[in-house]
Formats: sequence, structure tokens, C-alpha cells
Amino acid sequence: MQIGIIKETVHNDTRVAISPDVAKKFVKFGYELFIETDAGNNANFSNENYRDVGVNVVSLDEVYRQSEIFIKIHAPSEDELSKIPDGSTLVSMVWPRQNEDLLKKYADKKLSVIAMDSIPRISRAQKMDVLSSMSNISGYRAVVEASSYFGRFLGGQITAAGKINPAKVLIIGAGVAGLSAIGAANNMGAIVRAFDTRGDAREQVESMDAEFLEVKIEEDGNSDNGYAKTMSKEFIEAEMALFLEQAKEVDIIITTALIPGKPAPKLITKEMVQAMRKGSVIVDLASEQGGNCELTVKGEVANEYGVSIVGFYDLPARLPEQASQLYGSNIAHLFDDLTPNKDGEINIDFDDEVIRGATVVKNGEITFPPPPIKVSRVAKREAKEEVVVKEKKKSMISSSFVALVVVSALTLYLGSVAPSEFLSHFIVFVLSCFVGYQVIWNITPALHTPLMSVTNAISGIIVLGGLVQMSSSSSLSIIVASIAIFIATINIVGGFFVTNKTLKMFQR
Ligand code: NAI
Repeated sequence: MQIGIIKETVHNDTRVAISPDVAKKFVKFGYELFIETDAGNNANFSNENYRDVGVNVVSLDEVYRQSEIFIKIHAPSEDELSKIPDGSTLVSMVWPRQNEDLLKKYADKKLSVIAMDSIPRISRAQKMDVLSSMSNISGYRAVVEASSYFGRFLGGQITAAGKINPAKVLIIGAGVAGLSAIGAANNMGAIVRAFDTRGDAREQVESMDAEFLEVKIEEDGNSDNGYAKTMSKEFIEAEMALFLEQAKEVDIIITTALIPGKPAPKLITKEMVQAMRKGSVIVDLASEQGGNCELTVKGEVANEYGVSIVGFYDLPARLPEQASQLYGSNIAHLFDDLTPNKDGEINIDFDDEVIRGATVVKNGEITFPPPPIKVSRVAKREAKEEVVVKEKKKSMISSSFVALVVVSALTLYLGSVAPSEFLSHFIVFVLSCFVGYQVIWNITPALHTPLMSVTNAISGIIVLGGLVQMSSSSSLSIIVASIAIFIATINIVGGFFVTNKTLKMFQR
């Protein structure tokens, strides 16, 4: 089948739905691609780049004439929709909940429509989740925007002229965008704190070296569908009291709080903006849904009480190359599933819960909303993991008991028949096996690298012991010593290899 990609026209978006790199994958899936001339220019992809990977670069009219499947970022405009041939397949953002009228228009044209914004947020579909990809970019870009309006460094420094304190950044909402902003602000050296209504977020925030703030109200923001739920009035009041206190201390606030399908909660009031130091910055990522800050102006940078309030809603388009690459990769993963035989034929299979969840119109029939998918909450998963750990512990206790009985019986038997010299060596051997087992099995994975160094040191001692025994007159000793040296050498070489690989992970 033929796939068409046209230039994005909504908000003069700089992104393109498919990058040349991603186009290669579609060619492998058996599709023929047609792209409008210069569609990738703003994202730094030239017509030549597309031609090099086998894409046909043609006029806009030709794209409409040739294609049966249209891949876009934004839902087509009225004009674009009128040119899409009846019976085609459309893959783009649709926001079906907010655009029910649009679904009727698609149905009238007998289209099949896959809404990329409706990909279910389950683990298997993470690779197709364009919302997460775009939010990841937005979180990063929010910090870049904040630093460009902030008159100081984000990181602290000690210079000949004096000490510079790091900026303090508060992130409200630790979802995808929030976590990405935490990472970026941390990398730039700021002191980062974050708040979220979902208890699960604490672990993620802390694992990224940020401080998790909390209110003294026992209420969890998790809901059964994996998203946040609307909080009680008391909770919102308590968190706003916390934000007022924080506003007096922090230099930058990045707000990302949102409950899908609801207007953004107003969490930053005029009073809080007034309480911030002059020169501070607020970046309101939820500006498109009405904003988390009372003073946000959608799409603009407002300056109130000396505080810059950034209300851009096109942050991914401000990193067009990266955003196009990630958006296209997400779509390619979807097409991997949509093309099971890799023969260039699309198969919208409703037995696949991800494809079902994202298909809002099929052959002119509105299929939205899809049947709900229960996303297992982390808490549930943890509860399950706890049960598994308890079961494992039980079986470990019973197998340890059996091992103890066997080893005791063996020791008693050996004690009665073996020479006393052998027995003392044997007891040291049994004890070292026991201690070694306890030390290694109970160690947390994070400490495995230092553990590797320790085992390397122990292996070194074994090699030394083996070398000493090599001069022995007993051939049995020499054989055992050789085996010991051989095994210890594997451990040492393996240790260096793993350590080297681990170190490479931290090298930029
Ligand atoms: P998400 O759903 O992953 O995260 C939202 C977070 O807000 C959740 O962790 C939720 O628990 C939290 N939250 C909800 N109510 C809260 C409250 N009252 N107090 C504190 N936390 C609360 O969403 P994601 O993907 O991180 O996106 C965040 C925002 O960024 C959304 O508004 C999204 O539309 C917006 N966005 C903005 C872009 C831009 O260019 N400005 C581009 C992409 C996304």
C-alpha cells in the first residue's frame, strides 16, 4: 500500500510525521512512501535525505492522488480532509474525546482512523506512545525555556569573584514531562524538588535525585486506569498552601499537573506569583488545557510582578528534529504490529488491544470509545511482587532447613571417619560457602559493582594460593590448584570486562 506524508500546517508546526531514518523501516514493511516536497525542511530533513532511502518526493496533489494511508501529526484541517480520498486510513493525533464532530466527518468519508493520542498507556504499547515521547521533549525544553528567561545560572559555582548559589526549581506533577524536567534541571545543576498527588511518583522522583514534597493529608491520587484522579478540595487547598510557601523560596516553577480529559487544575494563584522573587520564571506546560497558573497567557510569555510566565504549548515543535524522529519511531512501532506479514498491507486487528484502543473509526464506523483496558497500578503490582517475595522466602526457608540437615549429617559422618586435619579445613570451607552465599544473595543490585571489585580481590588471593600449591609434590594438589587458578582467572577477567562496560555507561 502507499503511504502519504504531507507538510504540517496547523500552528505552522515545524515537525514532520516521518523522518528519513524512520522511512527506511516503512520501506522494509513493504510500503511505498510519498512525501510532499520540502515537508521535512523545518526539521532539517532535505528532499534528498528522503530520496536516498527510497521515498518518492512529490507535489502535494500527487501525495493525495497516490496514497491510501495518510500519516500526520495534527488531525487534518477541513481543507486537507476534503482532499483525502474516501476509504483511506488516517494515522494522526485526533483527540477524539474533545472532537466528536470530527469523528462523524471521518465516518462520512468511510475512513479508518487510528488516533495516536489514544494509544493505551500499557507497558507493551510504551514504544508507540507519542504522548510520552512528546512530553519527554516538553519537559526538557521547559527547563531550557526557563533558563533562557532566568537571569542567572541554574547550577552553583565557586568562582574567583565569589560563590554562586544554584537555582531552586519546583516541578509540579511528576508524570512524563515532570520527570523529564527533573532530569534536565538536575543535569544543569539546579536544586530540584517535585510534588505529585500520586504516591507512586515519590520513588521515581527520589530515584532522580530530587526531593519529593508532601502534604499532611492521607489521600492518594492514583486511579484504577493508571492516570491521576481528581483530588478532594481539602487536598488541593493543602497543596496550594505548600506551593505558596515554596513560591517564596524557589526561582523556577515548572507545572505539568493534568488529569486527562479535564481542564488543568489552577494551582498557582496570583498571590503565589506575587510571592516569588523578581526575575523568577514559571513555565506552564498545561497552558493548552487552560494552564496551571492563573496568569498564564496561552502561547505567550507574560510578565507579571517581575515574574516571567511561559505559556508555550508547542514545546515539542521547538525541537523539531528530535520530535519528528521520536514521533516517527513511535508510528513505525505501531506499523510493525499493523503489518504482521510485512507485505505492505495494513491489518487493523481488533483482537490486539493496543490497535483496538487507538482505532476511533473503522471503515466508516465510529469505534470510539473503546472497551476499557485496566492498567495495573504500581501499587497492585507491588502487592503482587510482595506476595511473590513472601512465597520465595517461604520456599527458601524450607530449602535452607533441608540443606542444614544434610550438611550437619555429612559433617558428623566425616567427623567420625576423616583425619582431624582435614576436618578443620572442611569446616573453614563450609563456613566460607555459607558466608559467601549470605553476602552475595542479600546484596542489593546497586552494590554489585563494588561487589565485583571485592570478588576480584578474593580471586586474586585464590590465584596466589594456587601458585603456592603449584610447587607441591602431590599431583592432586597441582591439579586442584590449576583448576582454582583457572576459575579465579575467569572471575578476574570477567570482572574487568563488566567493570569496563559499567564505566562506559557513565561516559558521555
Ligand atoms: P502525565 O499525565 O504523565 O502527568 C501529569 C501529572 O500531573 C501526573 O503525574 C498527575 O499525577 C499530576 N497531577 C495531576 N493533578 C495534580 C495536582 N493537583 N497536583 C500535582 N500533580 C498533579 O502528563 P504528561 O505527559 O507529563 O504531560 C504533562 C502536561 O504537559 C500536560 O498538561 C500535557 O498536556 C502538557 N504538554 C505540554 C506540551 C507543551 O508544549 N506545552 C507538550 C506536551 C505535553
